[in-house]
Amino acid sequence: MDSKKGQWGSNFGFLMAAVGSAVGLGNIWGFPYKMGISGGFAFLLIYLVLAVLVGFVIMLGELVIGRKTGKGVLAAYQDLSANYAWIGWMGTICPFLIMSFYTVLGGYAIKYMVANLGDFFHASWGVAGMDSGAFFGNFLVQPVQGIIYTFIFLLITYLIVRGGVQKGIEAFSVIAMPALFVLLLIAILRSLTLPGAMEGLAFMFKPNFEVFNGTGWITVLGRAGGQMFFSLSLGMGCMITYGSYLQKKENIEKNAIMIPFLDTLVAVMAGMAVMPAVFAFGMEPGGGPGLLFVTLQGVFAAMGGIGPIFGFLFYLFIVLAAISSAISLLEVATATFIDKAIAKGKEPNRHMATLWCSVGIFALAIIVAADGLGSNGLPMPLGFIWLDFFDLFSEGIMMPLGALAMSLIIGWKLGPDWMEDEITASGHKWSGKTFAMVCFRYIAPLGMVFILIGQLNGFFGWGLF
Ligand code: PFF
Repeated sequence: MDSKKGQWGSNFGFLMAAVGSAVGLGNIWGFPYKMGISGGFAFLLIYLVLAVLVGFVIMLGELVIGRKTGKGVLAAYQDLSANYAWIGWMGTICPFLIMSFYTVLGGYAIKYMVANLGDFFHASWGVAGMDSGAFFGNFLVQPVQGIIYTFIFLLITYLIVRGGVQKGIEAFSVIAMPALFVLLLIAILRSLTLPGAMEGLAFMFKPNFEVFNGTGWITVLGRAGGQMFFSLSLGMGCMITYGSYLQKKENIEKNAIMIPFLDTLVAVMAGMAVMPAVFAFGMEPGGGPGLLFVTLQGVFAAMGGIGPIFGFLFYLFIVLAAISSAISLLEVATATFIDKAIAKGKEPNRHMATLWCSVGIFALAIIVAADGLGSNGLPMPLGFIWLDFFDLFSEGIMMPLGALAMSLIIGWKLGPDWMEDEITASGHKWSGKTFAMVCFRYIAPLGMVFILIGQLNGFFGWGLF
C-alpha cells in the first residue's frame, strides 16, 4: 500500500464506509416496493440466495483485487493485465454517470429537508399546504433551483472526499452511519404505531407465490438480481477502491459477509419505515423518485403538526444515505487520478484530483438537474429522460458487464491460490474457498448474464419476460 494514498484507521471505519456506500437511495426507493410487488417474503428469500451466491463473492473478489494491488479500479485492472484495462475504464466512467443523477436526487432530498423545516416554522419557503405532487412538479420546472441544490449536495460530497480516506470518508462514515441507523429506528417506530400500519407490513412481507407463475419467476429473479447488485455498489470498482485502503491484518472474508448483511438489513428496515406509513394514510405504494418526493411528502403533510419534524428527520436520513454513497463514487474517480500521478512518479494531489472529478460530475449533473426528470423539454437521447439515459449505460450495461468479467477472470484466470494468498494474509483461514470458487466460475457469471439481460429488458421494455 502506498502511504501517500492513506488507509482506513480501523476495520469499523472501513465497514461503516463500505456499508455507507451500499446503503443509499436504492435501499429506500427500490427495495421495499420491489419486494412488495414481487412476492413479499418470497422475494426476500430469493434476494438472500442471490446475495449469497452472487453478491457475496463479487464483493469478496473486488475487495481482494483492491487490497492485493493497493490500487483504484483502473490501475488495479491494468496491474492484473493490459487486456483487462477496459474493465478499469468502465469502472472509471461509471461513477461520473451515476453521480450525474445521484447528486441531483441528493439535492432534491436537501430541498425537502429545507421545505419541512420551513413548514415547521410556518415559513413561506415550506411546502405550505400545497399538494405534494404539485409541489414536486413545481420544483422540477425550476431548473436553477434544481442546479443549486445539486451543487450544494456535490459540494458536501467534495469536501468530505477532499479530506482524505481517514480524515474525510472514514471520519464522516463512523458518525453518519450510526446516526442514520438511529433516524431509521425513529422512522420505523413512528410508522409502525400509525393506525392501519399493518396493511403496509402485509404488502411488503406477505408471501405471494403467484408472482412466480409461468415466466413470472424470471421477472422476479431479474428484478431481485438487478436490485441486489446496484444496492451492494458492485461492478464498478467501488469496493476495489475501498478495499485498497484496507489494512492487511483485517479479515476480508468476514467483511464481505457483513456488508451485504447490513445492507439488506437496512433495506428491509427502510421498508418497515416507509410502507406502513404509506398504507396508513391510504396512499398508493410506488418506487423511484415519486415515492420519495411525492408519496412520502404526502404522508408527512397528512401527519398534522408533527409532520414537518418527521419529514425533516426522514429527509435527513435520505441525505445521509445518499452522501455516504456519493462519497464512495467520487472516491473511485479521485483514486484513479491519484494512481496516475503516483505511476508517473509525481506527488499525488488529492485536492486537485477531487476538484476536477467534481467539476466533471457537475457538468453532467447540470443536464440532469435542468431536465427535471423530463419536465423541461430537453431533447431525449434514445427516447430516455437524461437520468435514465445515464443510468442505462452505468447500471444497465457497464456495471453488470464489469462484474461478469471480474468473476470470470477470478474463476478461470487468477484462480483460487491467487485469491487465497490475499485472503489469508491477515492470518485467517479462507473457510468458504470451495464454495466461493464454484460461485466465481459458474454461478456468479450465469447470474450476471441474467442480470445484464434483465437490466436491458427493463430499460428498453423488450418484454422478454
Ligand atoms: N449502493 C447505492 C444505492 O443503493 O443507492 C448506489 C451505488 C453507490 C452504486 C456506489 C454503486 C456505487 F459504486
